[in-house]
Amino acid sequence: MGSESYNEGRQFTLVVGSDSLIGKALMAHLNRAGSRVLGTTRRYEQVDDIHLYLDLAKNVNDWQCPFPVKVAVVCAGVTNLDMCRHNPIASASTNVEGLSALVKNLVNSGAFVIYLSTNQVFDGTVPYRKTDDPLSPITEYGRQKAEAELRISAFADSVAIVRLTKVLGPNHMLFSAWAGAMQKGEAIQPFADMVIAPIPLSCVVSVIRLLADRRLSGIFHVSGERDISYAEAAFLGAELLGADSCLIQPVNASQSGHYTEVVPAHTTLNIDSLRFALGIEPPDVRWTVKMAYMKPSTLVGIDKMLFYTRF
Ligand SMILES: NC(=O)c1ccc[n+]([C@@H]2O[C@H](COP(=O)([O-])OP(=O)(O)OC[C@H]3O[C@@H](n4cnc5c(N)ncnc54)[C@H](OP(=O)(O)O)[C@@H]3O)[C@@H](O)[C@H]2O)c1
Repeated sequence: MGSESYNEGRQFTLVVGSDSLIGKALMAHLNRAGSRVLGTTRRYEQVDDIHLYLDLAKNVNDWQCPFPVKVAVVCAGVTNLDMCRHNPIASASTNVEGLSALVKNLVNSGAFVIYLSTNQVFDGTVPYRKTDDPLSPITEYGRQKAEAELRISAFADSVAIVRLTKVLGPNHMLFSAWAGAMQKGEAIQPFADMVIAPIPLSCVVSVIRLLADRRLSGIFHVSGERDISYAEAAFLGAELLGADSCLIQPVNASQSGHYTEVVPAHTTLNIDSLRFALGIEPPDVRWTVKMAYMKPSTLVGIDKMLFYTRF
């Protein structure tokens, strides 16, 4: 074995934000595959040999990974829309400043970086946005993700940007709450005018792993094939659970008083780059929603217990 490939074998995959939904699943998969993997956390009590302390709002400029990093997958960030809207400066210090400083450090030390972005870099007026469509965010969260994309795209061949639509994992609070309510005969009020194009967490993990293995740079979209409204997802749940569909009382998000952002008409993304580069595409959205109700562990593609085990 040449010294270069020997050194390569001793390098780590770094999961920045290993407490996140996606980071946790990725850590579990990589560990199970026998890869050398490290995570980062901002929770002091979680720091150990493989979970390094990193707060994107605080210590990024001084931060160096103590071990050589082959690929870094950035999952950390302020992902709550309300939090970004109410605290635009504090959230941007994490989502834009900290994030771009970290990516620069990692690229300068030779790592390939995969950055997870979102359909919310677009305004939602047009379905199936292409990877090279101009960005048009309308929320503070979307604006911060778009700005981060812009900054890190300067690192060209050293970065991949993966835009995701709604990711469903093994424990989707909303669908399990609806299922519980419907099984007790209680009414639910899903949004009729709010849509998602859901993708399974397992699919996201697979895409990240393939891009990491091949160090494929560029922009990639991972999206369900169509939008489904929350109301349609609720009716599907009632059908699957054998509940009375009269329990479903759709309301409009825009009139509910519970949602203050503009409600996008579309969330889908064009996935041609994913098909051409990796030859894969996510399962159809009704399957993904069905699994969220009936067999959520399928959405992570590993044993649910393993998902909750901390590596
Ligand atoms: N999940 C989706 O449906 C979806 C869809 C589109 C795009 N994405 C993108 O995919 C990425 C991962 O999403 P996710 O849903 O897995 O994330 P998540 O579960 O919301 O977790 C975000 C993580 O970021 C960490 N974090 C927040 N502020 C931080 C800081 N200052 N320094 C370090 N870590 C910080 C949080 O730490 P604590 O756990 O300690 O709070 C949390 O673990 C995000 O970039 C998101 O924009 C996700």
